[in-house]
Amino acid sequence: MRGGNALVCSLLLLLGLTTTFCSGANVTYDHRALVIDGKRRVLVSGSIHYPRSTPEMWPDLIQKSKDGGLDVIETYVFWNLHESVRGKYDFEGRKDLVKFVKLVAEAGLYVHLRIGPYVCAEWNYGGIPLWLHFIPGIVMRTDNEPFKAEMKRFTAKIVDMMKQEKLYASQGGPIILSQIENEYGNIDSAFGNSAKTYINWAASMATSLDTGVPWVMCQQNDAPDPIINTCNGFYCDQFTPNANNKPKMWTENWSGWFVTYGEAVPYRPVEDLAFAVARFYQLGGTFQNYYMYHGGTNFDRTSGGPLATTSYDYDAPIDEYGLIRQPKWGHLKDVHKAVKLCEDAIVATDPKTTSLGSNLEATVYKTESGLCAAFLANFGTQSAATVNFNGNSYQLPAWSVSILPDCKNVVLNTAKINSVATISKFIGQPSKDDTTATGASFSSWSWINEPVGISSNSAFTKPGLLEQINTTADQSDYLWYSISTETKGGDAVLHVDSLGHTLHAFINGQLAGSGIGKSGDTKVSIDVPVSLIAGKNEIDLLSSTVGLQNYGAYYDKKGAGVTGPVQLKGLQNGSIVDLSSQQWTYQIGLRGEELGLSSGTSTLWASQPTLPKNQPLVWYKASFDAPTGSSPVALDFTGMGKGEAWINGQSIGRYWPTNIARNSVCTDSCNYRGSYNSNKCLKNCGKPSQQLYHVPRSWIKPSGNILVLFEQTGGDPTQLTFATREVQNICSRISETHPIPVDMWTSDEESRKRTGPTLSLSCPSENQIISKIKFASFGTPVGTCGSFTHGRCSSGKARSVVEKVQILTDIL
Ligand code: GAL
Repeated sequence: MRGGNALVCSLLLLLGLTTTFCSGANVTYDHRALVIDGKRRVLVSGSIHYPRSTPEMWPDLIQKSKDGGLDVIETYVFWNLHESVRGKYDFEGRKDLVKFVKLVAEAGLYVHLRIGPYVCAEWNYGGIPLWLHFIPGIVMRTDNEPFKAEMKRFTAKIVDMMKQEKLYASQGGPIILSQIENEYGNIDSAFGNSAKTYINWAASMATSLDTGVPWVMCQQNDAPDPIINTCNGFYCDQFTPNANNKPKMWTENWSGWFVTYGEAVPYRPVEDLAFAVARFYQLGGTFQNYYMYHGGTNFDRTSGGPLATTSYDYDAPIDEYGLIRQPKWGHLKDVHKAVKLCEDAIVATDPKTTSLGSNLEATVYKTESGLCAAFLANFGTQSAATVNFNGNSYQLPAWSVSILPDCKNVVLNTAKINSVATISKFIGQPSKDDTTATGASFSSWSWINEPVGISSNSAFTKPGLLEQINTTADQSDYLWYSISTETKGGDAVLHVDSLGHTLHAFINGQLAGSGIGKSGDTKVSIDVPVSLIAGKNEIDLLSSTVGLQNYGAYYDKKGAGVTGPVQLKGLQNGSIVDLSSQQWTYQIGLRGEELGLSSGTSTLWASQPTLPKNQPLVWYKASFDAPTGSSPVALDFTGMGKGEAWINGQSIGRYWPTNIARNSVCTDSCNYRGSYNSNKCLKNCGKPSQQLYHVPRSWIKPSGNILVLFEQTGGDPTQLTFATREVQNICSRISETHPIPVDMWTSDEESRKRTGPTLSLSCPSENQIISKIKFASFGTPVGTCGSFTHGRCSSGKARSVVEKVQILTDIL
């Protein structure tokens, strides 16, 4: 294991980075900041969850984080990913936590390891392995011996692994911080007195593991010493830690929000995010973490919610596909640089805040030795203000902060964006070899029907209706509830109540009706008209889960599946036949799952002439060549219903393009002024919550790839197409009131004047050139990137001037 550490050290040396990681750093804290090797630090951190991308993507994501000005990468540790069977650990591929941490170290960044091991995170069952649920007497996340024993065992396992690889800063590694539990304070009242004893136990259990670096608990006001209690939220500037010797830290600054099927897609304007960040550092904060900096993808069946989409893009500064999202990434990068210009003053002293008028505040960090940095805030939502500060006057747009690294000259205002904006688009990839009208690049289709009802030898019969998660142990999304009932025939209504998340009712092999749950209320209740035959009628109910609950007190007991009553109503004599407590036969999972169809290698697949379309319960298989180029790839599921998809045997997750975002209020240009919440800025109303699904490039070979789909509700797979994610348009906008670029900032007035506000445009990747100027205006243009129009005043020469500059730079 010593060898592992030597490798990290020599790589660091090769890259010419500091040797700090090799010699061991002393990480402590005081009332102002984390203290690394005796030096208080202002740190900027960002969340990247390793299993939400691929090891092939990690180096680039980490580099883009570093380029964006991050000092720290934060990740949760996902217990159920590593120990899906008790005592059998898996740290391979996307689960290779050690590799991820080492890559962060190689980039010269620190790590915040949030072990949890309950993590929430819109992750299946909040990260807790399902087998814990079956331990006799267990109660999760409270003072309960069986739970504490398992939590301690896994936490110790992870800490030991990190120690063996010498990954703690105290050992020369990058980990400067760890978290135990997660937002327990939000729900602890439900656990009565046991909550306090549990949290005290968790604190001493964690500290006893002797990592040599501080532990935090987020949203835990009563976190006992020496644990630092930290804040999560859209804003944390008003937060105060629970003891004078603890620094003000923000572990989750939500850069956007997650999406659930059936809901619109939230986004968070960067002006507001930048405002929140600047306010935090203004009012004494010294560590903040973007949740998420790269959100990524919930591959496989890892999404929680329930009903969380496969995409976990989160409107983060790096998008799901690994491309930087502009101007979000660039503007935050400028904010980080501006804050870092103030670092020496910020860590040297306590802030002093004074009011400059209604909703106007000045904060000064000033030392006797002459250091001085100031933040001027206008947290009014309506109008700009002119303030007088130290004898000078400053214009502050509404809901903005200006940063003055020398207490005099503004380096940045959070509402004024210097960064370039980009528009990333999905471009459909027509097939090379398929000339049919479908445009799909798939060939050699074959299919297998999934039988309706019981088909497995391991089916079993029990009286009454069983709760789904207790029955399947989450081995599959699917559970069949089957019964055969004798009637005299005729029309009736089948009534079924279920906890969700989806339900299909089949009568004598035919789909009779379906229902789906909604986010917030996953219950499904259906009343479907059915025609019964005289004699035996087969009733087969297929219930499916779409990711297990991850949040709330006792969330693990939420349950799913058919609870009943299941009734046949309105038979000839008007009677109601209640089938709920009769003998039901159960089958866990699908036959196709039992046969391992997802790998695509079964001999049962055979090309068959006509492909069934819009028919429920069908497995499809096709082959395809890689879309050309090297851009990230998505599969467009237009035409399909709901199911799961595998590429060369690897699950890209659940797809559900027919689940349409309900019509809330959507807008493309949300007003960033004023408090943000996850319902404030929405897009995609009336469209699929998710239509495009990430297929990592590294999972695709140049040719001979295999796609397998399980289609649950019915679809037309010939409509499937690939798209690649491309950046096509870049925009920049500047005015005489914009500060000069952060990199050029200086206290010297003359050189600042010489520089002036500067507009710069550059393509995001090296192999791109600016091929066309689509719009240029000098005057009062209106609109946003991609939809600018001239305002009332515009110069006729703007375009030709910009074109000339472009030609010049092309030559250079
Ligand atoms: C927090 C939680 C995170 C994540 C987030 C929402 O409450 O700590 O794990 O679930 O909400 O994305």
